[in-house]
Amino acid sequence: MSLVLGIESSCDETAVALVDSTRVIRAQRIASQDAEHAPYGGVVPEIAARAHAERLAPMIETVLNDAGVSLNECDAIAATAGPGLIGGVMVGLVSAKALAMASDTPLLAINHLEGHALSPRLADPALEFPYLLLLVSGGHCQILLVQGVGRYRRLATTIDDALGEAFDKTAKILGLGFPGGPAVERLAREGDSGAVPLPRPLMGSKEPHFSFAGLKSAVLRAKESGQHTDADIAASFQQAAIECLLDRLSHALDQIDSIPTLVVAGGVAANLAVRSALEELAGNHGMGFTAPPLALCTDNAAMIAWAGIERLPLGHFDPLDFAARPRWPLDPNAEPVRGAGVKA
Ligand code: KG4
Ligand code: ZN
Repeated sequence: MSLVLGIESSCDETAVALVDSTRVIRAQRIASQDAEHAPYGGVVPEIAARAHAERLAPMIETVLNDAGVSLNECDAIAATAGPGLIGGVMVGLVSAKALAMASDTPLLAINHLEGHALSPRLADPALEFPYLLLLVSGGHCQILLVQGVGRYRRLATTIDDALGEAFDKTAKILGLGFPGGPAVERLAREGDSGAVPLPRPLMGSKEPHFSFAGLKSAVLRAKESGQHTDADIAASFQQAAIECLLDRLSHALDQIDSIPTLVVAGGVAANLAVRSALEELAGNHGMGFTAPPLALCTDNAAMIAWAGIERLPLGHFDPLDFAARPRWPLDPNAEPVRGAGVKA
């Protein structure tokens, strides 16, 4: 049995977890920085980096103590090395390097997106490669063909905003505070999803990608018109977003050979309306459907440790001078799109 310590610090969650190859999370700690960033309505990179630096070392000690494990018993130390806010990524990666050096344990520099992409396999032992993955988070919105560990083909990405970002901006427009996704989901339950006419950007388009910037602007106009309740706006926004996801996934399924399972991961995968719409889509295509439990959807370190466990059999460890990467596409061969595509 192998054992990996995972460290995550790429955005606003400081997280440490110890996971073994039988899929047991031996111990974990996660500290959200919501309170620090809330006054600014979004994540402030300098505040995030400082908070990671203050919290990480004691959290690592606590996790090892909780599990009754010493560093020498770990087969590797896995840390997010990008993409993300570079200050925070460096805090986690430098800590991992120091621990790796001190305990003579191998280092694994993990792509945060690979953590999300493989997280469904931590929760579901029956989930085998290949699968079609919708990765929807605050920084990314991609459709990926996951063929194996380290083998990802990007079929679509966003040409402007990520979906989580659109949820967060909608929350801001409606005065729901930060982080916005869960608040929009809650309010949407009280609204009429057909009440506010909102666009479905790129729906039906021949190009494979997503776009959410126009939807966000339409939400702002709907709010400013004063003609709709916030609940109706939230529900209509969520419905429009879901229809975009379904349309773009259907387009992707038309482009590839049949594939047994649809999988969703990333923070927006915690949204129950999104999950049930995707489950229905999978059923209509005769596919199975898997979504990680809610706590594994948003940023966490168990998924980073698990990505480390998945990479152990490949035998590729990383050198201690591995540099943090603010940008790090999962599929280096993916064609660039007209927008920026990848943020955070
Ligand atoms: O994966 P994640 O924790 O961090 C990134 O890697 O970006 O995703 C965070 C994003 C935020 O934009 C947040 O608003 C969104 O996921 N999110 C949700 C929900 N829970 C988190 N969006 C919609 N509904 C939710 N329940
Ligand atoms: Zn993430």
